[in-house]
Amino acid sequence: MKPEAIPEAKPVKASRITLSQLMQPEHANLRGDVHGGWIMKLADEAGALAAMRHAQCRVVTVAIDQMRFHQPIRIGDLVTLKAEVTYVGRTSMETRVQVIAEDPITGRQTHTNTAYLVYVALDDQRRPRPVPRLVPETEEEIRRMEAGAHRQAYRLAQREGDPQEAVP
Ligand SMILES: CC(C)(COP(=O)(O)OP(=O)(O)OC[C@H]1O[C@@H](n2cnc3c(N)ncnc32)[C@H](O)[C@@H]1OP(=O)(O)O)[C@@H](O)C(=O)NCCC(=O)NCCS
Repeated sequence: MKPEAIPEAKPVKASRITLSQLMQPEHANLRGDVHGGWIMKLADEAGALAAMRHAQCRVVTVAIDQMRFHQPIRIGDLVTLKAEVTYVGRTSMETRVQVIAEDPITGRQTHTNTAYLVYVALDDQRRPRPVPRLVPETEEEIRRMEAGAHRQAYRLAQREGDPQEAVP
C-alpha cells in the first residue's frame, strides 16, 4: 500500500471563513427569539467549512464544546459567523466560531457567543486521515493554538472517563 503523503503546512488565515444569514420567522419562537439550536447548526456549518478549507477533504464533527449565549438574537437580525482553525492534531482540527448579530436598521452589532468545535478529516473509506500542520502567524494565533492544545487534552481526558465510550 502507498504510504500516505504528509500534507503541507498551512497558515490559520487560509481556513478563515465568514457566513451570514438573515434570521427569519422559521428560525425563531413565537416571541421572535431565535432558537439556540439554529445558531448551533450555523456554528457547525461555519466550523466545518473552516476545517474543510484547511484539510481540503470531507470532515465530520467529533466534538462540540459547551455553548453559552450571552445575548438574544431576534427575527430580522443579520447573523454573521466567523470561523477559523485554531489547533490541529494528526487528523483532528479545532475551530473557533464567533457569532455576531446585527440589527441592519440601527447597525448595532452584538457578539452573542464564541464556540469551539472539533472536526476529523476523513479519507474515501471514512477513516481519519492526516491534516496539514497549522502555522500561526500572529501572537494571537499562537496564544489560541496553545489554548486549543489545552482544550483538546481536556476533551480527550473527558472522553476517557465517558461511560458512553464503553457502550458496544
Ligand atoms: C470522528 C470519527 C471518525 C473518529 O473515529 P475514531 O475511531 O474515534 O478515531 P480516532 O480515535 O483515531 O480519533 C480521530 C481523531 O479524533 C480525535 N477525537 C476523538 N474523539 C474526540 C473527542 N471526544 N474530542 C475531541 N477529539 C476527539 C482524536 O484525538 C483523533 O485526533 P488526532 O488524530 O488529531 O489525535 C468517528 O468517531 C465518527 O465517525 N464519528 C461520527 C462523526 C459524525 O458523524 N458526526 C456528525 C454527528 S451526526
